Amino acid sequence: MKQQRREKVNAMKVLVVYDSKTGNTQKMAEAIAEGAKEAGAEVAVKKIGEPFPLTILAEYDGVAFGSPTRYADVTNEMKDFLSHVEGYVKLGKMKMKGRKAGVFGSYGYDGAWVMEERLKGYVAALGYTVDPKVCVKVDNEIKTRMKETLAECKAWGKEFAKSLK
Ligand SMILES: Cc1cc2nc3c(=O)[nH]c(=O)nc-3n(C[C@H](O)[C@H](O)[C@H](O)COP(=O)(O)O)c2cc1C
Repeated sequence: MKQQRREKVNAMKVLVVYDSKTGNTQKMAEAIAEGAKEAGAEVAVKKIGEPFPLTILAEYDGVAFGSPTRYADVTNEMKDFLSHVEGYVKLGKMKMKGRKAGVFGSYGYDGAWVMEERLKGYVAALGYTVDPKVCVKVDNEIKTRMKETLAECKAWGKEFAKSLK
């Protein structure tokens, strides 16, 4: 019992922050959170648009940022969210240095590599160390091979959480 309590206290903390319009990236976010939990991490999931304080980001060792691809970029809502975080970082209200970020997202045809590179760049600019391994899935696969595709997302989440130890 004591041992269990100690493990809980020492658990890595993972936050999954995502945007999703039609549910594909949301399914990925949930699977990633499940994987991180399986690795023993304490996990929270936040959808952009829900009310939550930006400072929550500073409470986590690792944050997985996810977005659908919109015109070869992240969604405007994700961009807007990240620019508010940047404002806080610039004001010295929180520091991301020493924390790790992972990026994930979904796409429909050709734009994922641009979206993931942009998202990596946006979070690196906040001070995060960005995991080079990303989790990107095409919408059709999420629909037609859902079980396998989400299992891959779960595995990515587990690996991301383990990499924080
Ligand atoms: C307005 C709009 C723009 C999109 N732009 C792109 C794009 O540039 N490249 C791409 O591969 N997919 C694009 N897509 C497809 C979505 O990224 C894809 O369906 C994604 O899985 C949606 O994620 P969500 O269900 O989490 O909202 C676009 C979809 C919409 C509606």
